Amino acid sequence: MSLTAPHTPACSPEPRGPKYPFHITKEEERQLRLKGAEAVPSLVIGQATSFDEYARQLMIPPAVMDLARKAEDLRLSAWEVEAMRKHLAPAAEPGDKVGLLRHILLKKYKKDHTHPPYIRVACTGRGDYDHLATKHGHLHPDDHPKGDIGSPVVLEIWPAQHYSPIHSHGHTTGIVFCLAGQLDVMVYEHLKWDARKLGLLTLTPGQCAWLSKDNYAVHRVYCPMDGGGGTTGPGYMNSTADFGASFHVYLNPEQTAVHDKDGDSYNRDSFDYIDEKSKKRGVFATESDLSWSILRRVLANTPLT
Ligand SMILES: [Fe+2]
Repeated sequence: MSLTAPHTPACSPEPRGPKYPFHITKEEERQLRLKGAEAVPSLVIGQATSFDEYARQLMIPPAVMDLARKAEDLRLSAWEVEAMRKHLAPAAEPGDKVGLLRHILLKKYKKDHTHPPYIRVACTGRGDYDHLATKHGHLHPDDHPKGDIGSPVVLEIWPAQHYSPIHSHGHTTGIVFCLAGQLDVMVYEHLKWDARKLGLLTLTPGQCAWLSKDNYAVHRVYCPMDGGGGTTGPGYMNSTADFGASFHVYLNPEQTAVHDKDGDSYNRDSFDYIDEKSKKRGVFATESDLSWSILRRVLANTPLT
């Protein structure tokens, strides 16, 4: 499918600096990668190859291990990745048609310039932009309510050089499982613009990060792949089809089989974040852009050369 869209986005609302998205020097990055590799409990779940690594994974909660074990064989197939690339590719010339995913990115970009957009695909329920597929015969054009919020299982598509704000997953328990490309995850001690950074890790397909209310609930995700030039930051939009993809599961406190009596109302319907511009705390409803059932049908109907 294809849709008309501008070739280049409007100008950045504020100057971009060389330090986005993590605002660290090369030396700080090196130190944070070391801290990430030594963190206890381990930031990453995997088959341990040393006693140290095994020991660092011992304190990962059983509910998290269960989610990770169930996800470990998930992969995107080669044709799904190729079709996603086609739908993410920028217009070759101004005014040229772009695919569904680039079209959604441009719509999200228009709504929010504070960070480069990424796409959330609900593996259950509906997405805000599902109706965009109707024009091309992928969905019956009956009624198209707004996308659901709080899907427990979400596929996230991260265009190269795009990133999320710092955000907290509150009291949920979950995993971030890399399916394609490459993703950097910076973990913070608190939900504050200048919070202490606990560690930086890079996920490749098959690797799994995790979070719970007590550990690693605050993070920022970034796709470090080739964005095709320019410096990432507020107002940035990449010019390649490269992307990272991750599979996210979030369980609410009552779903982890561990009693939680502190009465806090956090759940996956909304998460707190730090606005990239005001540097103040905000709340975002976890709306989905697309549903997987729709996206998969669109991908399956995409001619690959
Ligand atoms: Fe997250």
